[in-house]
Amino acid sequence: MKGVILAGGLGKRLMPCTKVTNKHLLPVYNKPMIYYPLKTLVNAGLEDIMIVTGGSHAGDFLRLLGNGSEFGLKDISYTYQEGEGGIADALRLAENFIDNDKLIVILGDNIIEDDITDAVKEFDRQKEGAKIFLKEVCDPERFGVAELKDGKVINIEEKPAKPKSNYAVTGLYMYNSDVFEIINTLKPSDRGELEITDVNNQYIARGVMTYSILKGWWSDAGTFESLFKASSLVREKLKRDGGLSF
Ligand code: G1P
Repeated sequence: MKGVILAGGLGKRLMPCTKVTNKHLLPVYNKPMIYYPLKTLVNAGLEDIMIVTGGSHAGDFLRLLGNGSEFGLKDISYTYQEGEGGIADALRLAENFIDNDKLIVILGDNIIEDDITDAVKEFDRQKEGAKIFLKEVCDPERFGVAELKDGKVINIEEKPAKPKSNYAVTGLYMYNSDVFEIINTLKPSDRGELEITDVNNQYIARGVMTYSILKGWWSDAGTFESLFKASSLVREKLKRDGGLSF
């Protein structure tokens, strides 16, 4: 299985901090944001990882992460997204790198406390389709929201005004390589993006979507409120664990 970290976008919700750097290079407590999703994948045993980035600061990822030796990796692959087309559009750029393998995608601004090794192993055994990770939240309207019935996800709505549950779809997704064929059928949403929620709904329609619920905390870090929350959660965890690296 291979890993993809999506770290493009303009980070408009974090202006003016993102005027002179990429959102994923901003600090979450004591480390650059990108460190956390990278660690999540490395801790789950992934060795082949691609970072999809864009904009005018893409070179800084190379300066910061190099070939990944600090994370115990032999190398890191990078690719560049021209313009802004949404999460699914960015993922499309990893098609050659994935080369018919299964993949884990993580949004570069998602900070996850859990070790996801077991879920990765479970998905390795899953014959087809996809697996998403849900987390109960008190502000579901900010996210993709899963509707559950009889132990299955039956639909996902992107940022609904009236959420059908409190289960947010986190920015951590596992797919088989059908994902690229699915992305090619997508049409841009009202916000002009190829939505990852539309990809997930196609897997649901095919009856091959499973899910797992995150036990520990989870936060995105794409707004000032959530960036502050993520930093506080990391700080508390480090204090609890006696300053060990996250
Ligand atoms: C994206 C997805 C959304 C998901 C969220 C998780 O939203 O579109 O479904 O719940 O990431 O962080 P965005 O933050 O790009 O608006």
